[in-house]
This record gives sequence, structure tokens and C-alpha cells, in this order.
Amino acid sequence: MIRGRIIATGSYVPENVVTNHDLEKVVDTSDDWITERTGIKQRRIVNAQQATSDLAYEAASLALKRAHYKPKDIDLIIVATITPDMAFPSTACILQDRLGATNAAAFDVNAACSGFIYGLHIANGLIKAGAHSRVLLVGAEVLSKVTDWQDRTTCILFGDGAGAALIEATKEKRGVYSTYISSDGSLSDLICLPGGGSRNPCSKETILKRLNYIKMKGNETFKVAVRTLEELVIKTLADNNLDPSQLSLLIPHQANIRIIQATAKRLGMPMEKVFMNIDKYGNTSAASVPIALDEAVQSGRIQDGDYVLLEAFGGGLTWASALLRW
Ligand code: UT7
Repeated sequence: MIRGRIIATGSYVPENVVTNHDLEKVVDTSDDWITERTGIKQRRIVNAQQATSDLAYEAASLALKRAHYKPKDIDLIIVATITPDMAFPSTACILQDRLGATNAAAFDVNAACSGFIYGLHIANGLIKAGAHSRVLLVGAEVLSKVTDWQDRTTCILFGDGAGAALIEATKEKRGVYSTYISSDGSLSDLICLPGGGSRNPCSKETILKRLNYIKMKGNETFKVAVRTLEELVIKTLADNNLDPSQLSLLIPHQANIRIIQATAKRLGMPMEKVFMNIDKYGNTSAASVPIALDEAVQSGRIQDGDYVLLEAFGGGLTWASALLRW
């Protein structure tokens, strides 16, 4: 049986650190409130010149280097993002050109915070179908440029970054064991960016109404996220006939420490087996899971043979999980 296996990872975050204390000077908030309600202490923010493809390029180059791959070895590039460089061409096409990955097809996936796992679902499906054999999957976001820095309910949450994974066809008994994706468009208004598309094209009016920034009904989203993720992780383990005790590491989307703790509690997993870096980067949407995965691999938290569960929840609404055997 052929399946996809992640053979290398890479990640990149911008140098500029914005702490909670920095935000105290911008909006009516406090380090204590942000830390207690979200677990975030700081986030990384791009400079004015950097765009999503620049972050994606750094993360992808590192993954390629670690795999000893040349860009021409890749036959597909998928970029998961809700903050593309521009509406089109896709950020994946821009990345393809920058890398010189001339043998790759390239497209973007928009599933907000679940985007990387959606991309893994697609990549693994295409590998299993025999359509592609070497896929570069990147989750990359520059949320700071669509964040309303006057809105304390959202601006404290988000950060910029990118994470990449190289996925190769394998016949080994390891790799992507299962992926699951789901959506509920009836709750699309819980998190959205209403301006700049064909519904509300960019105009003086949309800018004055601040429609070109992320809007989120945080508390409602929180409740749906907890309920959905608790069910999702239990289902994913059951689908793979695994007991939570067999899991070596849970890598959750880094949106809120309280959501992560609730999911771990539902699984009965000690927090030592849950990867967290939300304190350093905040919520980086589609980049969150691959940055965490890369940091987990580089720090030795994942060893050969380990079962690793990835999960995410985000705008759409969308949610997704993946069970990996490393
Ligand atoms: O990644 C995609 C999915 N996204 C998520 O999963 C995010 C889900 N939501 C959350 O993480 C949380 O809902 C937030 C962190 C956004 C907010 O936490 P909360 O515990 O749900 O707070 P709340 O929205 O119920 O607000 C509680 C209070 C309000 O004041 P009143 O009405 O009780 O007087 C807010 O105005 O906290 C106030 N508040 C703040 N206070 C200080 C909201 N933002 C801030 C702030 N600093 N930055």
C-alpha cells in the first residue's frame, strides 16, 4: 500500500517580536489578561516589505535542504493560506517560481487555521492515487496585515509565520495513517474577513468600515472549537483503533491554551504529551500546525515509530485531523 510520509520539515518566523506589553501601549489590554485567557506572551510580525511567499520560501528552503532535495525534485506545491500575496496568482505559483521548482504544479488551499491539514489530506490522497509522488506542503500567513490593530478582541491573538513539510510516496508501514476534514459554512460569520473580495470589493467605504480586517466572535468560536475538537480527536483515534495512551504527541492548532487543555483533558493526555508554542507565536492560522510540527521534530519530541496526532479548527468553519506514524 502506498501512502504519503513526511520526510522533512522546516519553519520560519519573522525576527520582529511584539510582546503583550507592547500591545498594552496600543489597545486597552494587559499582559495578565492575554496570558490568562489565551496563553500568548508574544508574537512575530513581518516588516512592511515581507509577504506570505517570503515566509513560505524560507520554510520550504529549509525543508528541502534537510531532505537533500532539489526544487526540481518536487512535483506538486500546495500552499495553505488565507493571506496570499495577492488574489491571484496563487502564493504557491509565486513560491514555485522563487524556488525554481519547474517540475511542480502549484495551487493554494483556503481552509483558514485547518489549511495545513486540509493540504495534507489532499497531498496524501494524490500520492495514494499515484498522481504525485513528491509534494511540498506549506502553511504560511501574514495575519498582521489583515489584523485590526484598534480591536483588542482580535489583535492580541494573531502572528505571522510559515511551516513546510516534504511528503513522499512510501510503501513503508509509516507515514500518514489517516486524515479527516470537515466544514460547516453555516457558521462562516464567526470568523471572517469581509472586505476585499467580490462581495465587498475594496473601496473607500469598505476601508472606512474596517471591513478589510479579520472579524471574530471569539467567545462563540471558542465554544464550538472546544466541542468540535474534543469529538474530532476521539473519532480520529477510534478510526485508527488506537488508545490515547498509544499516542506519543498531540500537536494541536495553537489558537488558545484553554482550547488545547480541554482537548487534552478529553483524551486523558498529560500536557507533557501535548506540543505548545502558542506563548511564542500566538495564532498563526495555517502556519500554526506545521511550525509546531517542525519544532517538535527538531527538538527530538518525535522519534521513529511514534504515533502523532495533528488537529486544527478555524474559519469556514473548518476542522481537520491527521494521524501520523513517524
Ligand atoms: O484559530 C481559529 C479559531 N479561533 C479560536 O479558536 C479563538 C477562539 N476564541 C478565543 O480564543 C477567546 O474567545 C478569546 C481569547 C478571543 C476571548 O476570550 P474569552 O474568554 O472568550 O473572552 P470574551 O470574549 O468573553 O470577553 C470577556 C471580557 C469582555 O469584557 P466584558 O464584556 O466582560 O466587560 C471583553 O470586552 O474580556 C474583554 N476583553 C478584553 N479585555 C482585555 C476582550 N478582549 C480583551 C483584551 N484585553 N484584549
